[in-house]
Amino acid sequence: MSTIIRNGTIVTADLTYKADVLIEGGKIAAIGDGLVGDQTLDATGCYVMPGGIDPHTHLEMPFMGTYSADDFESGTRAALAGGTTMVVDFALPSPGQGLLDALQMWDNKSGRAHCDFSYHMAVTWWGEQVFDEMQAVVDRGITSFKHFMAYKGALMVNDDELFASFRRVGDLGGIAMCHAENGDVVAELSARLLAEGNTGPEAHAYSRPPQVEGEATNRAIMVADMAGVPLYVVHVSCEDSHEAIRRARQQGKRVWGEPLIQHLTLDESEYFDKDWDHAARRVMSPPFRDKKHQDSLWAGLQSGSLSVVATDHCAFTTEQKRTGVGDFTKIPNGTGGLEDRMPMLWTHGVGTGRLTPNEFVAATSTNSAKILGMYPKKGAVLVGSDADLVVWDPEAEKTISAGSQQSAIDYNVFEGQKVKGLPRFTITRGVVAVTEGKVDSRDGHGEFVAREPRGTVNRALSQWKELTAPRPVERSGIPATGV
Ligand code: URP
Ligand code: ZN
Ligand code: ZN
Ligand code: ZN
Repeated sequence: MSTIIRNGTIVTADLTYKADVLIEGGKIAAIGDGLVGDQTLDATGCYVMPGGIDPHTHLEMPFMGTYSADDFESGTRAALAGGTTMVVDFALPSPGQGLLDALQMWDNKSGRAHCDFSYHMAVTWWGEQVFDEMQAVVDRGITSFKHFMAYKGALMVNDDELFASFRRVGDLGGIAMCHAENGDVVAELSARLLAEGNTGPEAHAYSRPPQVEGEATNRAIMVADMAGVPLYVVHVSCEDSHEAIRRARQQGKRVWGEPLIQHLTLDESEYFDKDWDHAARRVMSPPFRDKKHQDSLWAGLQSGSLSVVATDHCAFTTEQKRTGVGDFTKIPNGTGGLEDRMPMLWTHGVGTGRLTPNEFVAATSTNSAKILGMYPKKGAVLVGSDADLVVWDPEAEKTISAGSQQSAIDYNVFEGQKVKGLPRFTITRGVVAVTEGKVDSRDGHGEFVAREPRGTVNRALSQWKELTAPRPVERSGIPATGV
C-alpha cells in the first residue's frame, strides 16, 4: 500500500519547500505535486522532516549492578512517540568479554525493536582478541567504537589502551568515540567526599566538576590526532569540554561534539532538591551543570562547533536509584529522554529563535546520519531514502508527564515541562507508528542498520596521514660508525 503525505512543508537540513511525499515499499518513492497513493496523511500546517536519529542510547544495559529499565521494546516505542525513528545503542562487552560475544547479546535484545537501530561497539578492555575482532565488527557495519575514560575499575581504559584502540579504529576506517571524564580524578574526589560525609546525590556533581571533562576531552582530542582518527565526543555538558572541541575544529581536526537535551535544558540545582529521590533520579555522568554552560552548548549548535543532540537514554527506576542511599557512588548513572528530545529541542531551540527548523533537523537527524555513515538512507527526505519521517505540528502542545509516557520508569526528569511542537505522525519505514500522540507500532518492526566505514572524512584523513607520515631522511655520505 502506498501513502501520500499531502499539504506539508518539507524541512531538511538545508531546504524548506512545499511538496507532497509518496511512500512505497518503505521508501520515499516521489516528491512533488499531484502524486497519487492509496492512503493520505494530511500534513496541513505541518513540517515534513526526516525522523529523528538518537545517536546515543543504552537499552537494557548491564551497568552498576543492574540493567537499565527501558529495553529495545519500550525504548524504541518511546522514541517513536517523540518523533525519533532510529536509535544507535552501545554494545558493551564486560571487561574480558569478546566483542562478537557482546554483539550476540545485543542481537538477542534488539529483536523487539519498534524502530530501526544500529550499534556502536564499546572498547572496555584491550588485548589481541579485541584488536582482531574489531575487523569483524566493522564488517558487520558497526563502524564507531566508544571508549570510557571514566568508571575506573569497571569500563575505563587507560591512555595506552586508548591510543592503541584509536589507531586500530583509524586503520579500519571507523570513528573513535569517547566518554570524556578523568576517571582517576573522579575516583579520588569521590573517595574524599564520602570520607567527609558527603554521601547524598549532590556529591555526584561535586565529584565530577567541569574540569574533569575539559581535561579528558582535550586529552582524547590530542590522542585521536596522534592516532589519525576522527573523534566523536559524547555527552558534551560544559564549556570546558566544548572549548576543547571548538579549538580543535578551528585547527582543522576532525572532531564532533554531542550535547544532550538534558544538559541543554536542566541544570545542577536539581541535585540540591531536598527530596533524595528527585536528586538521585537526575544522577548521570557528566552531571547537570551550572546554567551558564547551557549558553555555551546552544551557541555550539548555532555556530556548528557542536553537531548533534542526543539523550544518552539510560533509564533507571526510583527503586534502582535507591541502591545508592547512603553512598552516592552506588546510584546507577543515567537518565531518560528518548520521548522528549525532539519536543524539548524544538520548544527551547526553534521556539526561542536559537535554532532554525533546518538546524533542528541537522542536529536531531541528518548530522548523525552523515557522521555515522548511513546518509542518505537515513536522515534525508530524498527519493530512495527510507521513509523514516516525522510530520511535525509546530502548534501542538502538551505537558510532559511520567503518567503518559512510553518509558518503563516511574518518573520523568522533564516532568511538568510544557512543550510546543509535537509529531502529528511518526512514520517508520513507511508504516505510520504514531498519530497525534497515539502509539500504534509493532514489536519487531525495527531492523538493524549496517553502516559504511571509510567515509569521506576518513579518506581525507588517511590521505593526509600518508602524506605526513614519518619517513627516514635519504642521506648520502653517512659517517662511518665509531670514527
Ligand atoms: O550517566 C550516564 N551517562 N549513564 C550511561 C552510561 C554513559 O556514561 O554514557
Ligand atoms: Zn558516557
Ligand atoms: Zn552513554
Ligand atoms: Zn511492543
